[in-house]
Amino acid sequence: MGDYMETTTWWQSGIVYQIYPRSFQDSNGDGIGDLQGIISRLDYLKELGVTIMWLSPVYQSPNDDNGYDISDYLSIHPDYGTMDDMNLLIEEAGKRNIKIIMDLVINHTSDEHPWFIQSQDKNSPYRDYYIWKDKPNNWTSFFGGSAWDQIGDSYYLHLFSKKQPDLNWKNPKVMEEIQKIMHFWLKKGIAGFRCDVINIIYKTTLENGKKRFVLTGKEHYHSQEGCHEILRTLRKNVMDYYDAFTVGETVLVSVDQANDLIKPERKELDMVFSFEHMETDQINNKWFRTKFKPNKWMKVISKWQEHAHWNANYLENHDQTRSVSRFGNDKDYHDISAKMLATILFTLKGTPYIYEGQEIGMTNGDFESMEDLKDVESHRINDIAKKLHFTKKMRWKMMMRSSRDHARTPMQWNSDGGFTKGTPWIRINRNTKVINVEEQLENSHSILHFYKKLIQLRKENQVLINGSFKPIYMKKNIFIYERFNTNQSIIVICNMSKSYQKLPININGKVLLSNVNRNDFMDSLLKPYESIVIERRIES
Ligand code: NOJ
Repeated sequence: MGDYMETTTWWQSGIVYQIYPRSFQDSNGDGIGDLQGIISRLDYLKELGVTIMWLSPVYQSPNDDNGYDISDYLSIHPDYGTMDDMNLLIEEAGKRNIKIIMDLVINHTSDEHPWFIQSQDKNSPYRDYYIWKDKPNNWTSFFGGSAWDQIGDSYYLHLFSKKQPDLNWKNPKVMEEIQKIMHFWLKKGIAGFRCDVINIIYKTTLENGKKRFVLTGKEHYHSQEGCHEILRTLRKNVMDYYDAFTVGETVLVSVDQANDLIKPERKELDMVFSFEHMETDQINNKWFRTKFKPNKWMKVISKWQEHAHWNANYLENHDQTRSVSRFGNDKDYHDISAKMLATILFTLKGTPYIYEGQEIGMTNGDFESMEDLKDVESHRINDIAKKLHFTKKMRWKMMMRSSRDHARTPMQWNSDGGFTKGTPWIRINRNTKVINVEEQLENSHSILHFYKKLIQLRKENQVLINGSFKPIYMKKNIFIYERFNTNQSIIVICNMSKSYQKLPININGKVLLSNVNRNDFMDSLLKPYESIVIERRIES
């Protein structure tokens, strides 16, 4: 059972909101979201109850992978504004008690970063900043195909797109450079980093890997001891000087591997985004999906709740499809299933992360053809599938189930969109007519108001932050669990199905929050996608 914690930190009790800057709010009509746009929405975030903002990359970048390919870590991409805008954002957010964490992308840079340009010269001091070989090995990339590309008579490693060459973390110079970058931003007043694919940065050897359907070679770079050492050094030389935290994006980690990264005595990271719950509807990789099975999902969530030292809880981000479309039901039970998922997000043990638009129940995009999709990954996978003779229909089905662009459609501020006065860089979902912030601010029963209530509930009930987690019932798509400390117990009941279900156990207590506005549960019948939060009195 996850332990009860005596004390918690500001980042454990915080409410994080992730902003994908390109799609959040445009202020100058160029169709691309920007920093001034974010500043104009700070009051909205404050009202919602957000205390930490995670800003996806705003650095200088050729945007092959929308900013996850950085060509200058110390400057702001003109699409987003200037360094003055960034300073203003930090200041204005601070006035509203919102701290900012930024993405730290240090597995790779852009191929247009001056380090990589210089490293193409074999005699340059930058040669060893990257991983060059005379002949490629058999490793494959996360975006499909070989992880190597050729320049001149040498090959360089890129675990993502060919415009994202991997840094060589065996070179102490790389360590020095990254430390300088981290100090630069922390000194500016940011409160930490979300560390991109951090558990794969260290490549122990460059030998061929065991042949696999995806990610051949991963045993040579996944969760290596060298990575732990790097994280301990960054902690000691940088993070320990500031009141800041790190959340690592850690692909393919087990609970044990996660604990090795986050247990406080290890002095590495503070929490990690794990993926196991996001993989329960996948066969082997995200492009091959199977039906979502709530029971399987709950068991994974419950395992992490019980065994991980601390969780970074999330149901969506810029790489995942929308949760209401994936784990809820965006057709017949849009409102209620979005609220049920929110109930889970805010009552689990760990720090909750909201992804922009999740708080109004934004759904997957309504794209019509490959021209509507912008993501480098989607296009690459589509090309590979075409070469493998997948029919157009099959390929489109893969895209509609898994493309990252579903999460990247512009924020739906009002019935006309409200994201830009120009042409948006990616199409706005037509359902902005009915799913939008303006409408939900006016309707006190909206998903948005339900989020506010949950955030308030968390603030008022310490047990939701520091309490232990105990699973009570996890069958027939019903998920019941308890959060408790020495003086309080809260029970959460969720029906993750579209059928009525009989409440399987007797529970007495006060209803703190219900997504169907119930005050008691005398009838013992759970409605489709119903969720209830109950306070059980502990008799002393
Ligand atoms: C994870 C990021 O979230 C994703 O958007 C990006 O494509 C890869 N890392 C590579 O940086």
